[in-house]
Amino acid sequence: MKTRITELFKIKYPILLSGMSWISTPELVAAVANAGGLGILATGILQPDETRDYIKRTRELTNKPFAANVTLYFPGADRNAEILIENKVPVVNYALGKGDKIAKAVHAYGGKVIATVTTLKHAMAAQRDGADALIVTGHEAAGHGGAVTSLVLIPSIVDAVDIPVIAAGGFADGRGLAAALLLGAEGISMGTRFMNTTESPVHESQKALSNTLTVYDTVYTDKVDGLPARVMASKGATRLINKRLNPLSALINSRKIAKLLGFPWLKLAVGIMLSGVQNSIRMARMAIGFDAFKAGTMDGDNENGVLPIGQVTGIMHDTPSVKTVMDRIVKEAAEAGKKLGKKL
Ligand SMILES: Cc1cc2nc3c(=O)[nH]c(=O)nc-3n(C[C@H](O)[C@H](O)[C@H](O)COP(=O)(O)O)c2cc1C
Repeated sequence: MKTRITELFKIKYPILLSGMSWISTPELVAAVANAGGLGILATGILQPDETRDYIKRTRELTNKPFAANVTLYFPGADRNAEILIENKVPVVNYALGKGDKIAKAVHAYGGKVIATVTTLKHAMAAQRDGADALIVTGHEAAGHGGAVTSLVLIPSIVDAVDIPVIAAGGFADGRGLAAALLLGAEGISMGTRFMNTTESPVHESQKALSNTLTVYDTVYTDKVDGLPARVMASKGATRLINKRLNPLSALINSRKIAKLLGFPWLKLAVGIMLSGVQNSIRMARMAIGFDAFKAGTMDGDNENGVLPIGQVTGIMHDTPSVKTVMDRIVKEAAEAGKKLGKKL
């Protein structure tokens, strides 16, 4: 396959593994790279030493290009971005923040930059800031997808930018890849599909459950970590949606928040008291959401935890290997192209 994305990143297929905390590990990233795609290491939850170790392990497992992400809104992201740059990671993916300095530093060593966006405004800003490509994430997606569905969001951004667009949110098979290419995208990035593969470290019970879910079994809410996100409908999700938070919740959770931010606890507790009601509540939600995502993803706990999952789970019914997923998508996309040719 040949698209602007395969040329830009020197990969065989225009298929990316999204950066998912706890999931997009060196093992899963290398499996995708070795099968011809581009895997994005997730660094959002990693301390600096762990980020260095992730990069090293990925390089031991594959000699193909790979990417790593930084979610600029997260505590500790600046330090992780520096580490990706020091280690000359071939492709750096950033989200939720301004990426001009990252783009300049990555280009200086010959690397490439992908910005993840959910709106036209942020797409234009990322292009101005020097991104080489965009991941555009629609409403169907697991986690923090946009307010507009992929079918409309992708062409609206493709029409407005010059850099190549990678479509995310609702893609899991070859029909999806062919459709994304027709909408003007140059590739797809998938979270939910790769989460449910044999190499994925997600709790096995969640993979099995994912195979039984329908397209109606997700909810989109800002009550998990404070930003609109799509998660599996579950007792844990309902509990968080109904949970009332006040500035006191932030103080009660301040030890957890301090650990997350890498801050001394006392300094943080004083900071919370001075930061105002809305900010305190936002911090409390972020800390609670962090724990809930971990419990849902790694412990398979749907009573207390929350599992990010996309609507596309409803059209996936198995847990194949990464290579099977990739080979299947490539074959199906070619068949879809032939069928379309006949119909047109
Ligand atoms: C279990 C799971 C965990 C995720 N965790 C993160 C995360 O930590 N950070 C992030 O930016 N996106 C996260 N995502 C969202 C993906 O990066 C991606 O945007 C999304 O999965 C694409 O839509 P799809 O699920 O329809 O393929 C997660 C997705 C899943 C399924």
